[in-house]
Amino acid sequence: MDHFLYRNGTLHAEDVPLTEIAAAVGTPFYCYSSATLTRHFKLFQEALGDLPNLVCFAIKSLSNVAVLKLLGDLGAGMDVVSGGEYLRAKAAGVPGERIVFSGVGKTRAEMRLALEGGIRQFNVESEPELRALSEIATELGVTAPIALRVNPDVDARTHEKIATGKSENKFGIPIARAVEVYAEAAALPGIEVVGIDVHIGSQLTELEPFELAFTKVAELTETLRAAGHDIRRLDLGGGLGIPYERSNDAPPLPIEYGAMIRRVLGHLDCEIEIEPGRLISGNAGVLVAGVVYVKSGEGRDFLILDAAMNDLVRPSMYGAHHDIVPVVEPEAGVEKHPFDIVGPVCETGDTFARARVMPPLKAGDLVAFRSAGAYGAVMASEYNSRPLIPEVLVDGDRFAVIRARPSFDEMLGRDTIPEWL
Ligand code: LLP
Repeated sequence: MDHFLYRNGTLHAEDVPLTEIAAAVGTPFYCYSSATLTRHFKLFQEALGDLPNLVCFAIKSLSNVAVLKLLGDLGAGMDVVSGGEYLRAKAAGVPGERIVFSGVGKTRAEMRLALEGGIRQFNVESEPELRALSEIATELGVTAPIALRVNPDVDARTHEKIATGKSENKFGIPIARAVEVYAEAAALPGIEVVGIDVHIGSQLTELEPFELAFTKVAELTETLRAAGHDIRRLDLGGGLGIPYERSNDAPPLPIEYGAMIRRVLGHLDCEIEIEPGRLISGNAGVLVAGVVYVKSGEGRDFLILDAAMNDLVRPSMYGAHHDIVPVVEPEAGVEKHPFDIVGPVCETGDTFARARVMPPLKAGDLVAFRSAGAYGAVMASEYNSRPLIPEVLVDGDRFAVIRARPSFDEMLGRDTIPEWL
């Protein structure tokens, strides 16, 4: 459930009409609902219920500092994958003991930043990374708490570009070699083993792949404990999917996911960490765009929007579906028509939807892309020299711009012309 509903014929974000925000900030823009973010975060907390747990928001899905502050104030931990994300979490006031650091290519500078600023644990993905981390920690006179990310060789049955738990993927340490690598970790001076980490992919629509992976983690926990390691935390990653197409079967609910976790791992007496991104932020955001032209082509009509693939890349990158709805509801019974919905960028890949059945729309009308809160703004670029678009946060009947639209001068001001030109 989200908080983007029609009231009096206009799509609202909570109590604010999207038309009002569009008039204030111009289109296109991203708009997030505080109530939806809060609700989705709490669903995970409730799902894990009595298990000791920390829900670490995967901030790669939506990293605006205002959103992180909202979630952090609710008690969320953060899953970060770069020095920049680490600094965002800190800027939002999240203490280091609630930040986990994931990612296959952490640099020494990033390790140092997190060790100096405070960190709950590093999710380490390879032996060279482990050794580098031990060296940096020793230099700083501390020990780095770590979980090793194991690759369980499980098919997540999701889009191939976002599946991460098969042996051919670049992620983690093959689970069959885990015992050996944990032994090395325990012997390194700058390392303290605290747990096991696994993440098999994103936008999973079934529980079974998770269960297969978590069962392997349960077995590994017993094996590693028998070998003398103090495995006290299990980080289960993120990945629970959301319904992008309202007509489709809904993916499992957090409460079902939580029950499965309790069944498979509850007896181990470990603290459970999870790293959900999309399920918290996805349906908490919309992208609002204006229609620039309606163009009649050869056997098809185009809705040309002022938003493009640089603002929301998911459709062109993964062939992803987003529901696109008019902000002002059409009158009942009005005849609908298929449109190719496209942006102004100069390539055919800049297509959001083909033959999407829409009510009649004209230049100046507004549309909203649903489920655009996750992997929307964070994946935007300035391709075609289109400045990044603003982000707006709604809370009840108030709204605030939480990232302003940069001016052209700001965008151009980042380039410098060398003296010899
Ligand atoms: N933890 C780790 C280690 C991850 O790599 C990811 C996502 C997450 C947690 C959060 O997964 P989520 O709960 O959001 O599924 N850009 C793609 C999604 C890439 C996901 C990458 N890793 C998209 O737009 O679909």
